[in-house]
Amino acid sequence: MRRIAVLTSGGDAPGMNAAIRAVVRAGVDRELEVFGVRDGFEGLLLGDLIPLGARDVGGILASGGTMLGSARSREFKTDAGVAKAAGVLERAGTDGVVIIGGSGSQAGSLDLSRHGVRVVGVASTIDNDLCGSDVTIGFDTALNIALEAIDRLRVTASSHRRGAIVEVMGRDCGYLALMAGIAGGAEAICIPEIPCDPEAVAAEIAHAYERGKPHALVVVTEGAAFDAAALSRWFKENKKLLGFEIRTTILGHVQRGGIPTASDRLLGSRLGAVAVDALVTGRHGALCGMIGGTVTLTPLTEVVGVKKALPETMLELARVLSR
Ligand code: F6P
Repeated sequence: MRRIAVLTSGGDAPGMNAAIRAVVRAGVDRELEVFGVRDGFEGLLLGDLIPLGARDVGGILASGGTMLGSARSREFKTDAGVAKAAGVLERAGTDGVVIIGGSGSQAGSLDLSRHGVRVVGVASTIDNDLCGSDVTIGFDTALNIALEAIDRLRVTASSHRRGAIVEVMGRDCGYLALMAGIAGGAEAICIPEIPCDPEAVAAEIAHAYERGKPHALVVVTEGAAFDAAALSRWFKENKKLLGFEIRTTILGHVQRGGIPTASDRLLGSRLGAVAVDALVTGRHGALCGMIGGTVTLTPLTEVVGVKKALPETMLELARVLSR
C-alpha cells in the first residue's frame, strides 16, 4: 500500500476534522501518501483530490465542520456514479480510501467496496444512528449543544410558568432526543421509534402543571410522527388540556457546527488512526466504530441498512425520571 485517500460525506459532524487529521498523520507515520477528496462523493466524481501532509492538517482539531467539505451527491447514488468514482480512485493511483460519514455515506462505502475499492468507513454523524458504533463522531457535541439550549429554555419557561417544545435533529432516529431529554430533565420525549400520542403528551404536561412544576419540557425528534410544528398545532387546538402556555423552538443546524468536545476529538482521532491501520493490514470493507470502549471493525454488510435499536434501559430511565 502506497497511497490512500480520505473523504467526508453527508452532514458535517464536529470531530470529523480530528478524524481527517488522524488519517493523514497515521498515513504519514506509515509512509503513505495521503490525498484528501474535496466535497465528498461529489468531489470524488470530479476527481477533486489534493495531497495532504502532516502540516496541512495542523490547527483543525478544535474546529467543527470538515476542512475537506461535504456534499450529498445524487449521481453517486447511481450504479454509473459508483463505477465512475471507483475509476477516479484507480486513475489517481490510490490503494484504499477512508470514508468518514453516517449511514448514507457508509452505504456508499459498501457500494464502492463491491466495485473492488478497498474501503474503510469511519462512523460519523450527529444522529448516532449507525450500527457498528455505540457512539458516532459528532453526537456528543450535538448533544451538548442541544442540552445547553434546553437548559436555557427551562430557565425562561420556569420564569413564565410555561411549557416548552424543543425539536432536535436525528432524522428518523430518536437517539439525540432521548439522551437530550434525559440529561435535560424533559417531562416528555417524542421519538420516531415509539408511537406518539399527543393526548398522552398533553396529559404529561397537565400533570406537571397540577403538581406545581414551574415548567414542562417536551423534547421531540424532527422525524417523529408529531414533530414540533405538528405537536404545537395540536396543543393550540387543545389548549384547555395543558394548563401551561406553550412555546416552540426548533434547534436545526446549530446542533451541527459546534466546537468538538474532548470526547469527539478523541473518538475522531482513535477511529481515524485505526482506519488507516485496517487498510494497511488488509481489513477493508468494514466500518471502524467504538463498541464497548474498544475500536472495532464491523463488516459494512452488517452495518448498511440495519436499524440501530435504542437502549431499552435508557427508554425506561426516561419514563421513570420524568415523574
Ligand atoms: O444526518 C445529520 C443531519 O443533521 C440530520 O439530523 C438532519 O435531518 C439532516 O442531517 C439535515 O441535512 P441537511 O444539512 O442536508 O439539511
